Parts: sequence; structure tokens; C-alpha cells
Amino acid sequence: MTFGLELKGRRALVTGAGQGVGRGIVHGLAAAGADVIVNDLRIERAQEVADEIGGTAAAFDVTDYDAVTDAIAALDDVDILVNNAGNAGAEGFAGLGRFVDTRPSDWEPFFRVNLYGVLHCTHAVLPGMIDRGWGRVITISSDSGRTGEANMAAYAASKAGAAGLTRALAVETGRYGITVNTIALGTMRTEATEGLWADPDNPHAKQLLRRYAVRRPGLPEDAAALTVFLASGHASWITGQTYPVNGGISFAQ
Ligand SMILES: NC(=O)c1ccc[n+]([C@@H]2O[C@H](COP(=O)([O-])OP(=O)(O)OC[C@H]3O[C@@H](n4cnc5c(N)ncnc54)[C@H](O)[C@@H]3O)[C@@H](O)[C@H]2O)c1
Repeated sequence: MTFGLELKGRRALVTGAGQGVGRGIVHGLAAAGADVIVNDLRIERAQEVADEIGGTAAAFDVTDYDAVTDAIAALDDVDILVNNAGNAGAEGFAGLGRFVDTRPSDWEPFFRVNLYGVLHCTHAVLPGMIDRGWGRVITISSDSGRTGEANMAAYAASKAGAAGLTRALAVETGRYGITVNTIALGTMRTEATEGLWADPDNPHAKQLLRRYAVRRPGLPEDAAALTVFLASGHASWITGQTYPVNGGISFAQ
């Protein structure tokens, strides 16, 4: 048996990949040999990351079904879809607060990106994967959707919904050589959370880190490592799962 995470000849699409976790995943997939299409709402972000790896940029809004369908139809076959676009839009993470104090207008952006965005992109790539008898769908979720987290109810619910979609689609598509999995991340250090980590003496950051067995925030490459493995041929019997990548977080402090 040889063991190598070789993705040569595979074409990957990573959504929301103009920065942060998505950018790390783009670099991981490209290093494994995949042709990578870099999506972002912001064309300049997508182009910059595509230029870093010699890939292609595709700007579209994952929340817009028609735009997603048209954009993906215009691409060559997508073998690997990474649903990474998340949070609440281009400005990154939007704060929520106690559920009882929030309104439907606060919940909606999370569902549009984290759940409908995943539905749209997955719906657009699956027919081609079924025809070709091979595919990987990997959705980047959050531990708050797996275990629950105070003050983030709508975000957690939207992420848990995407994990439910993963399980259902795994059952539907396994017979076609397609696997569908979710990665549930702990708190990462990305542009979206830089305000938390920029000051090493930030008491909130220090308190948060006490919950992590590995005393650091996650990095994009931590997410990339499991994504590349799940995308590889070695993971062909792994489907319908949600894998935490979270530095051993525990709710005990
Ligand atoms: N940062 C964290 O601590 C953390 C923790 C758990 C899970 N996650 C998840 O990881 C993923 C990436 O997070 P990040 O911190 O890198 O985010 P980020 O906000 O730094 O980057 C997200 C990128 O997605 C793009 N984007 C947003 N809405 C889009 C849309 N509708 N269509 C296309 N592109 C869009 C943005 O322009 C941005 O470039 C998200 O799904 C997020 O929920 C992040």
C-alpha cells in the first residue's frame, strides 16, 4: 500500500476562499495537486488567492441560487466541493446575543450563507459528480453547531442544519462514489476573529483559550489538513460524518 494525499487530476471549488480558513484550504488542496477554483463574494479577494496558487477565481454569491447555478454550469467539472463560505457575509462574523433578544432579521443572514449557500452549491455540483461516479463534498461547520453555544443560537442552528444535510446526502449519494462530510471547527484565528486575537493580553481571548487543551486558536492549515484527507482516495469509505477540529475544546474552564 502506498500512502499519499495525491489530488492530481481533480478539480476543486472552495467557496468563501478569499481569506481565512478557505484560503488555507485552497493552499492545502493545491499543494496536493488539485486544480483549485477560488470563490468569494469579493472578486479581488478571490483573484488574489487564485494568483497565489496559479488557480482560477470565480466570484459569486453563494446565497443567490441562480448565480450559483449559472457560475457552476460555466465551470469545468467540479470533483471536490468545499462549502466554506460562512458566517454572515463579506464582513465576517456578526455578533448575535441572547436568543430572546434577537429578531428574525438577525437570524436570516446566518441561514442564508451557512445553510442556503451550502444547499445551492451542493445542488449545483452533485449531478455532474453522479454522472462521473466520483465526488467529495466537504462542508466547513462549527463546533457551536455540534455542541451548542450561548449567544450564537441562529449561527449554531444554521451550522447544525448543514451537518444534517451532510448526513442525508451521504445516504443518497454513497452509491455513486460520492462522500459527504462536515468539519466542525473550534475558534480559529482568521480575519473574521482577528479582533479577538490581535492583543495577546486580551482577557477574553485568554479565558477562551483555557477551554482548549492545545492552548492556541485553530489555524487555516489545521482545517486544510483534514479537508485534503477527506478529499483524497484514502477517505472513500468515510461519509456522513462530522469531524471536530478544535484543539480539544471542553466546556470546563
Ligand atoms: N473563524 C472562526 O473562528 C470559525 C470557527 C468555526 C467555524 N468557522 C467557519 O469557517 C468558515 C470560514 O471562516 P473564516 O473565519 O475564514 O471567515 P472569514 O469571514 O474570514 O472569510 C469568509 C470569506 O467568505 C466570503 N463570503 C462571505 N459570504 C459569502 C457569500 N455569500 N458568497 C461567497 N463568499 C462569501 C467573505 O467575503 C470572506 O472572504 C466559515 O464557514 C465559518 O463559519 C469559523
